[in-house]
Amino acid sequence: MTAQPEFRRYLVNIDSISTQQLFTDCVIIGAGIAGLRAAIEAANHCNVIIVCKDSLQNSNTWMAQGGIASVLGKRDTFESHIADTLDTGCGISDEKVVEQVVRQGPELIEELFRWGASFDLADGHIATTLEGGHSHPRIAHAHGDETGRIIAETLIEKVRQNPNIEVVENFYTIDLITNDDNVCIGIIGHDKQRGQQIIWAENTILATGGAGRLYRETTNPEVATGDGIAMAYRAGTVLWDLEFMQFHPTTLYIAGASRALITETLRGEGAVLLDSKNQRFMQEYHESAELAPRDIVSRAILAQMLKTNSTHVYLDIRHFDKAHFAKRFPLISELCESFDIDVSRDLIPVRPSAHYMVGGVRTDTSARTTIKNLYACGEVASTGLHGANRLGSNSLLEGLVFGRTAGRLVSQRKKVDVAHLKHPLIKYQIPDSDRSRLDAADVRNSLRSLIWRNVGITRKAQPLVEAQEIIRFWQRYVMDKIFDSPEGWECQNMLTVSLLMAHAAETRQESRGVHFRSDFPKTDDKHFKKHIEITKKS
Ligand code: FUM
Repeated sequence: MTAQPEFRRYLVNIDSISTQQLFTDCVIIGAGIAGLRAAIEAANHCNVIIVCKDSLQNSNTWMAQGGIASVLGKRDTFESHIADTLDTGCGISDEKVVEQVVRQGPELIEELFRWGASFDLADGHIATTLEGGHSHPRIAHAHGDETGRIIAETLIEKVRQNPNIEVVENFYTIDLITNDDNVCIGIIGHDKQRGQQIIWAENTILATGGAGRLYRETTNPEVATGDGIAMAYRAGTVLWDLEFMQFHPTTLYIAGASRALITETLRGEGAVLLDSKNQRFMQEYHESAELAPRDIVSRAILAQMLKTNSTHVYLDIRHFDKAHFAKRFPLISELCESFDIDVSRDLIPVRPSAHYMVGGVRTDTSARTTIKNLYACGEVASTGLHGANRLGSNSLLEGLVFGRTAGRLVSQRKKVDVAHLKHPLIKYQIPDSDRSRLDAADVRNSLRSLIWRNVGITRKAQPLVEAQEIIRFWQRYVMDKIFDSPEGWECQNMLTVSLLMAHAAETRQESRGVHFRSDFPKTDDKHFKKHIEITKKS
């Protein structure tokens, strides 16, 4: 079987006879909150292999600061959390899913607490704080702004102790393997030590995380290159709403420094935004000022930067008690110190950057994708929770809920003896390319700049069309190559997902949630109160 580069089913040649093979009941790709939680649940009745392309510590979950949203306070209610989530989702969240996630929150957070996640306490109960778009303080946090690390460490510890779970780090999953009946039967990947391997699995759970690295400016770690979306697309799943990339309003902006997140909970606890003329401006854009939903704050910052001809704005926390700040926000405190920013005297330079992929692989309420025996959870999935915009700190909660859901479904399925199943012989051959060698790093850098410029916070038709033309041109000499290392496969995946994202953004000719079209600034319910669905043409 051979294929045209743009419709290639697999990124590499496969000869299943000569490739090392492993067998498992369940393979999980990705080790953020969703993948880890899924592994723990699936391992109740299954053998699980969890693979991740770097170390277990390198995930968006690990880097999460603000926290995890749930109804934990006496004055808060499920109805209020549901209403805030639906409002932020701008009309296209799935109410059933919102209800499912919100109602499971307290139980799952308490479970994490029992497992050892040391959430910060107030009066003997889990302390909560506020973020934009929430009508009540409902963000639980741990070690101040190290919530992600504490949660990840707790889950990793649980996974490490479980004899039914094998963890394989530095394993780059290249593709999902499907049979002729469109059933997912495992994965092909590259183990840094052992080379190419096939893992045959009765169940495959995709938990690969996000795609922030498609943008030059992002809060995301290097691993967030959209691989899961790209491999699911090649396998033929339905994708939803890739135009909805959420931008975080406040990323540290210092030339040469990595774009570190400055948590929104700072604004929840009183930080204000100032422009380059030292003026507050958020009241001009929204009645909730600094606590407006993220898309509004991001666009307001951009508008104010334009108005004042500046590259950034500032967060002002000079009125905070310095000792309290250092204790409550140790990560940010250390970060500021490392750049000689004395927060009691100096302002913190910030601007928006790509943060969270709201769209992704379409799933139902049980985390099933449109391919049999393939499940998705966490940022790679589009469950219907977020609609057109994600309410801050709802994503860690979603990862827990759908991680458990996927793991439970897998563990309840009737077990088959996967090692003795007759697996198809796969011989997939890609024609040799006679095109010249390629500098994948250069293509990636150019792509990230293009996406930031043309598919950024404010979009319009012509730049979106131009982005697709340029990406197609790059694809002509990147997609026909057979790479033998993650850098090359990532580059191919980034081109694939960028093209789909630009296409989806062009298709949605309205503004809704995080997707703002300056040529269609209004929401158009008549034509677009729906999902933009993409599937590969076969
Ligand atoms: O601002 C933050 O701490 C980010 C939270 C989130 O993305 O949910």
